[in-house]
Amino acid sequence: MLRKNIEVPLLDLKAQYRRIRAEVSQAIDEVLESQQFILGSKVQRFEEQAASYLQSDAAIGVASGSDALLLSLMALGIGAGDAVLVPTFTFFSTASSIARLGAMPIFLDIDPENYLIDPKSVEAFLKERCRPHPDGQGLMEPKSRSRIRAILPVHLFGQCCSMTPLLSLAQKHHLHIVEDVAQAFGARALLSQRVSKPVGTIGDLGCFSFFPTKTLGGMGDGGLVATDKKDLADKVRMLRVHGQGSRYHHLAVGLNSRLDAIQAAILAVKLRYLDQWCEERIQRAHLYQNLFSGTGLVRDKIISLPAPGNERSHVFNYYVIRVQQRDDLKQYLRGHGIQTEVYYPLPLHLQPCFAHLGHRQGDYPNSELATSQVLALPMYPELTSEQQEIVVQKIKDFYRK
Ligand SMILES: Cc1ncc(COP(=O)(O)O)c(C=O)c1O
Repeated sequence: MLRKNIEVPLLDLKAQYRRIRAEVSQAIDEVLESQQFILGSKVQRFEEQAASYLQSDAAIGVASGSDALLLSLMALGIGAGDAVLVPTFTFFSTASSIARLGAMPIFLDIDPENYLIDPKSVEAFLKERCRPHPDGQGLMEPKSRSRIRAILPVHLFGQCCSMTPLLSLAQKHHLHIVEDVAQAFGARALLSQRVSKPVGTIGDLGCFSFFPTKTLGGMGDGGLVATDKKDLADKVRMLRVHGQGSRYHHLAVGLNSRLDAIQAAILAVKLRYLDQWCEERIQRAHLYQNLFSGTGLVRDKIISLPAPGNERSHVFNYYVIRVQQRDDLKQYLRGHGIQTEVYYPLPLHLQPCFAHLGHRQGDYPNSELATSQVLALPMYPELTSEQQEIVVQKIKDFYRK
C-alpha cells in the first residue's frame, strides 16, 4: 500500500550528504587547517585520483564545466574564423564556449531515439555542406567561410554518444573531438565489442562539470579537463592561471579558472563512491522500466523510456522520458508533490543570443520536437522504490483518468 502525500523531489542532495557527512567534514577541515586554498596538494591529489579513475594521462581541475569547455577550445587554438560542430539540443555552455572565443557554433540535429548528436547528421553535413578550405587545409563552411576545426559531442543525460563513427569522421577530416562530459562522469563508451573506455577520454579532451546536480557533484562550482595529450594538458594548465608561463610572465591571455581546494577535497571523498552511485542510478532506471512496462503506457506509445544503459553506457544523471501532453503532466505531478524538470525547453539554434546565425523554427526538427516532449523524472541514488512507484502510479493516473 503506497503512502499518500509523500513528496518526491527531482534530486535530494541532503540524502547524499547524510551518507558521507563525517568524511566530508574531515576533508574540509584538513583544507581549513592547511589554509592552502588555491591549487596545492588537495587539488593535485584529486587530479591524480581523477586521472587514475579515468585512466587518462592528465586531469586538470578548473573552476566549472563551462570553463573546462572554454579552456579546451582555447588549448586547441580555436577562435575567429573557426567553426565547431555541436548538437543544438544541449545545455547552453556547450555552444557559448565556442561563441565566446569568436568561433562559430554549427548546430546539428540529434538522433530522436537517444537525444545525442547523430553521427549521420555530422557525416551528411561534412559531405554535403562543406567544401575544401581555399588554403588547402581542411574543410570550410562556405557561407561563413569558417574552417571546421572540431566536433563537440555531448554525452547528454549521462548517456554515451556513439563515438566510433565520430572518431573516424574526425580522423578523415582532420578535426578535433572535444567531449562534453558534464552529465556523464562514470559512464563508459563501447568502442568495439570488447573495448570500452571512460567517456571523456576518447576524444582529444574531455570536459567535466562538478555542478552539484551532476553524477559527481561538488558543493559549489567546479570542473575538470581530461586529456592524454601532453601538449594540450600543458596548455590547459597554463591557461587556467592567466596564461602564466613562469610567475608573472604571461605566454597567453588566459583565465583565472582553478578548481577550489575545498571542492577538490570534497570531490576526492565523493569520487570513492562514484561507481556505487552510478550503479544505484542504473538500478533505479531498471525499476522505472519495470514499473512503466506494467502500465501499458509504453506499449500504447504514450510515453517512451530511455535506453537501459547496458555496460555503463548510460549512468542516468537524468532519467528523461518522452511524453504526450508534457506540460499538463508536469503540472499534474507538481500538484501531487512530484518534482520534474524540462532539459531543455528551447534548442540552442533558437536562443535569442544566436539569432544572428539566422536559424529558424523547423531547421532541426528532432531537437525541436524533443524540447516539447522531454521530461526528467526524479532520479538520484537514494531514491526509494516507494517513491518510484508513486511517480509511475501518478503518471498512469494522469493518462488513464
Ligand atoms: C551538458 C552540459 N555542458 C556544460 C555544462 C556546464 O557546466 P558548469 O555548470 O559546471 O559550468 C553543464 C552543466 O551545467 C551541462 O549540463
